Amino acid sequence: MRVIQVKDYQEMSDVAADFLAGQIFHKPHSVLGLATGGTPEGTYKSFIQKARHKELPLSELTTFNLDEYEGLSPEHPNSYHMYMNEHLFQPLELSSTQTYLPKGDAENVEKEARRYEQMIQDHGGIDLQLLGIGENGHIGFNEPGTSFTSRTHVEHLKPTTREANARYFEKKEDVPERAITMGIATIMDSRSIILLASGDRKKQAVKKLVEEVRKEEFPASSLKIHPYVTIIADEAALSAVSTNTWTEPENESLIRWTADKKEWEIG
Ligand code: PGA
Repeated sequence: MRVIQVKDYQEMSDVAADFLAGQIFHKPHSVLGLATGGTPEGTYKSFIQKARHKELPLSELTTFNLDEYEGLSPEHPNSYHMYMNEHLFQPLELSSTQTYLPKGDAENVEKEARRYEQMIQDHGGIDLQLLGIGENGHIGFNEPGTSFTSRTHVEHLKPTTREANARYFEKKEDVPERAITMGIATIMDSRSIILLASGDRKKQAVKKLVEEVRKEEFPASSLKIHPYVTIIADEAALSAVSTNTWTEPENESLIRWTADKKEWEIG
């Protein structure tokens, strides 16, 4: 895993947006895997500016989101459909035939999960997957204990996850108890992955990800054996990590950022 240490949320967002723009510039027919939550909001904002400024070709792009709450229709204000429309799809005028999320209000959500998994495969898999990380180490909605061999499935959300996401809902009890999420193996099939982390709230999760062994009790640790994972994290999110675990990158062909950004590989 490569770690790019940035100063703050804004810089994390700008660097992540550069990755997305670079991917599309080099491969306009890319398949992007997208995330929701507070973390990627700034990335989408920065990406929209870059896409407009650089006139990125977006017509051949396809996107697949990680997850959606069970029972919420695409029009529900707390659905991830709505989030994506607001934060990315509408500003960039991406059409509904190139942007996919699982249908949380499907009659049979298990069947919907299988359909979604198949659709990702049918599009040739994901080129670049954007991830956040939960305080409990979840990626997508893959909660602690989820099998590393899991594919898109229906997941029961942990009370801590429902609490963390309650800030978006009117009442805590309104947060759905289940969601459809890409599985760990689905995510691991992505050709490259960017994981974003910002702020003090994420520092214990980032420390575990960097320093501890790969285990299903900590879903993000699955990424440790993926060949192309880049963690973009700010100083606060990295503040608990012991720098003894890091080494200077050996591979000089890695993209190097300006001198004030530190870039590491986890040894
Ligand atoms: P957040 O959520 O970006 O809102 O912190 C991340 C996650 O739970 O994966």
